Amino acid sequence: MSKRSHPTVIDLFAGAGLLSFAFQRSGFDIIQSVELDAAAANTYRANLGDAIRVGDVRRIHPLSQCDVLVAGPPCQGFSTLGKRNRSDPRNELCMEVVRWARRCDPSLIVVENVEAFLQAETWERLCNGLQRMGYETSAIVLNAVDFGVAQQRRRSFTFASQIGTPSVHKPRMKKCRTVLDAWTDLAPEPDGLNHHVSPAPSPLALARMKTIPPGGDKRDIMAAAPHLAPPSWWRVGCAVTDVWGRMQWDSPSNTLRTALQNPSKGRYIHPEQHRVISLREAARLHSIPDDWRFVGLPTQVARQIGNSVPPQLGRAVALACMRQLN
Ligand SMILES: C[S@@+](CC[C@H](N)C(=O)[O-])C[C@H]1O[C@@H](n2cnc3c(N)ncnc32)[C@H](O)[C@@H]1O
Repeated sequence: MSKRSHPTVIDLFAGAGLLSFAFQRSGFDIIQSVELDAAAANTYRANLGDAIRVGDVRRIHPLSQCDVLVAGPPCQGFSTLGKRNRSDPRNELCMEVVRWARRCDPSLIVVENVEAFLQAETWERLCNGLQRMGYETSAIVLNAVDFGVAQQRRRSFTFASQIGTPSVHKPRMKKCRTVLDAWTDLAPEPDGLNHHVSPAPSPLALARMKTIPPGGDKRDIMAAAPHLAPPSWWRVGCAVTDVWGRMQWDSPSNTLRTALQNPSKGRYIHPEQHRVISLREAARLHSIPDDWRFVGLPTQVARQIGNSVPPQLGRAVALACMRQLN
């Protein structure tokens, strides 16, 4: 372990810094983070300080060795929602983890991604590369809802270790945290304060929303108001059921992705009001604390939230790493 008083972390593809935040809260020093997107990096800096460098992970080098290397490479090429493009150039970015590991010699490496990453050929190459350097590799899939987050969100965590595999402890919970739990004490309607903002729907979107009951989705529009359904919906039928979805008070939300204020991209409509969720409501469903400062336009903030590891899940992973280092 490093001679600093706290074990050290380097965070690649750091986004707005929510995984760094979880490690920092768990007793780590974040010594270097790299992120391409300037707005995300500004949010990082506003909350966590100057460890962030804006740039391409492929063109930057480690400043020093570290105890833990964490990385959240882009997932579009692996996501089941995307086309699972095996030749998506972004898939190669995760191999940067091997290059950085060679330079900064961490005891532990954590790579977070979508569940389908574990089926990708790139994942095998990543593990083979790390094994050739002497690391033992393993992977688990964790659902944020099992860690007290009011959101169904399954993500893979690949560990590479020189000191044994970290074991992530799930908290004992009697029931899932729901949308209602997450929003208790929040103004029921967006008041414009602290990113509690939601775009006004267009007249067509409003008419569609009025036909959708709690837990309903695009199929309710097709059944109750067929004239509001475009021809493309009739062509594809009901294969994708989450779009134009309305949340339910007594359940966790479905996975929040980067376009979480676009009703045609997921289950993002308020349980009873005719609008998509506000950014603050999204942050609450992601276990991001109210004093976290977001920087950027609403679409950029939505991307920062949808891309991030919910801090409560990240903390369980960070504490597992801390136990393994001690
Ligand atoms: C899934 S997000 C990471 C989220 C982060 N772990 C968190 O918890 O907030 C992936 C990030 O990689 C960034 N990215 C994509 N290509 C990159 C590159 N070549 N170099 C650095 N960052 C890159 C994206 O801008 C995006 O913010």
